[in-house]
Amino acid sequence: MAAKREMKRILVTGAVGQIGSELTLALRDRYGADNVVATGRKTAPSEELKNSGPFYFIDVTDRASIEEVVSKHDIDTVVHMAAILSAVGEKNPTLAWDVNMNGLYNVLECARDHDMARVIVPSSIAVFGPETPRDNTPNETVLKPKTMYGVTKVAGELLADYYFHRFGVDVRGLRYPGIISHETLPGGGTTDYAVAIYYEAVKNRRYACFVREDTRLPMMYMPDCIKATIDLAEADLTKLKHHSDFNVGSMSFTAGELAASITKQIPEFECSYEPDFRQEIADSWPSSIDDTPAREEWGWSPDYDLDKMTTDMLENLTRKHKQGKI
Ligand code: SER
Repeated sequence: MAAKREMKRILVTGAVGQIGSELTLALRDRYGADNVVATGRKTAPSEELKNSGPFYFIDVTDRASIEEVVSKHDIDTVVHMAAILSAVGEKNPTLAWDVNMNGLYNVLECARDHDMARVIVPSSIAVFGPETPRDNTPNETVLKPKTMYGVTKVAGELLADYYFHRFGVDVRGLRYPGIISHETLPGGGTTDYAVAIYYEAVKNRRYACFVREDTRLPMMYMPDCIKATIDLAEADLTKLKHHSDFNVGSMSFTAGELAASITKQIPEFECSYEPDFRQEIADSWPSSIDDTPAREEWGWSPDYDLDKMTTDMLENLTRKHKQGKI
């Protein structure tokens, strides 16, 4: 089946979040500021986001609030980033189910009703669990997560594929690894230490990491995350055998290797390790990812490795620190 039509007017949910805030700006550059409508639930958008195009508060669990913006802006594509992540989800599983499942259901129904061109919905390495092969985890494998976040992501992948096959809604999604960035802090994930460590290195020269030194997880730098998301969204549908469940690999490192990469540039940096409840979640996830289908079906290839990312992160955060922004 060929793509129904091009994406022209895009609604981004979760636009104030870690990925959404940067993805919205990238989409505005590409599709025109007024054609990319940003939405969030309660956190106020940054000045940059607010001044760069339309913004609304909506609640994805309330379908009427999505409908209103979709109708007003004649939306043909939803990039659905709103979600409760793994650590917050373990503290409040009911909320995670409500936002991640009912929110997705509302978005998919809305897309079906409005005959939309595309829906982009992220999945995560959290779909995997302790029974999954940990190294070079294949795309097709055991999906038995032990977190509510993971449960909603597996169910979300299935629901998204159901809407594609049953109703012809062109839904696409990637299994993001931990995403590292310097614009907006992540909110409530297990991989957040890999961001916090940079902020603390710049501000205080020390960090108490909440997973063990030998914890190895797949990670990705934000420019690669934005590239992967837009490339998949724009990929030729006729070439896709997968839709909502692409593994995307980039880099894998232990918390200790991450600290060592920072020490190369900030020799006085010290990292200590104080594992908390997130250790068990991290231990249930892959250490590295096989992303052959993404490479074959839409040409995925990352640009950043650990040291290249560290250089860029430290440069940006040092500048912000000097400006008093962090
Ligand atoms: N970064 C997410 C989390 O840690 C994984 O998708 O919850």
